[in-house]
Amino acid sequence: MLMRIDILTVLPELLKSPFEASILKRAIEAGHVEVHFHNLRDYTTNAYKSVDDYQFGGGAGMVMMIEPIDKCISKLKSERSYDEIIYMTPDGERLDQGMANAMSLKENIIILCGHYKGVDQRVRDHLITKEVSIGDYVLSGGELGAAVFCDAVIRLIPGVLGNETSALTDSFQDDLLAPPIYTRPREYKGWKVPDILFGGNFPEIEKWREEQALKNTENKRPDLLK
Ligand code: ADE
Repeated sequence: MLMRIDILTVLPELLKSPFEASILKRAIEAGHVEVHFHNLRDYTTNAYKSVDDYQFGGGAGMVMMIEPIDKCISKLKSERSYDEIIYMTPDGERLDQGMANAMSLKENIIILCGHYKGVDQRVRDHLITKEVSIGDYVLSGGELGAAVFCDAVIRLIPGVLGNETSALTDSFQDDLLAPPIYTRPREYKGWKVPDILFGGNFPEIEKWREEQALKNTENKRPDLLK
């Protein structure tokens, strides 16, 4: 399956490197996903290529204008249909593993990165189908949020992770945190790996991992168990 992500931004250079390394790079090279960057300045009609302007009614901070955003989205929509047109914003729906799972099954999505104070409300009212926040803090733009969103989603596209089960054992995948994991050496500076992992008793090991996952969740994120 091929997913296509179109990212609309005023700072494409801020966004590119996460897609040029590791799992995201491999996902692109293997043809699981296409990621296209669109510089909103290329869709401006004024001589200064400005994408923002003063707020009507006064107030601090510039506002992203609707015209370049609409032009870019309209062009993309004339070429294919989109499942979701997402706006990255701190007042959007909070990204979690459930949302990432759902998004990984989409075919075509557009992501708009906000800047300055935000976008003209008419963009949100008429062009956007979903608003996403990556957490309760304010970034200086939506680009890093878009990178986080894309990373969480792309690794879940069927076929992207080599070992198909490895996403299933991630933290949050079953509303539990992951259990502890170990590798060689068996003992380091007197710090030992739990004996249970060496007996070769896989049902026992599985049971231990489930218990540890539950314990981890009770200690660190009891809210997940409610
Ligand atoms: N843009 C600014 N802050 C953001 C956040 N927390 N999530 C997504 N986009 C943002």
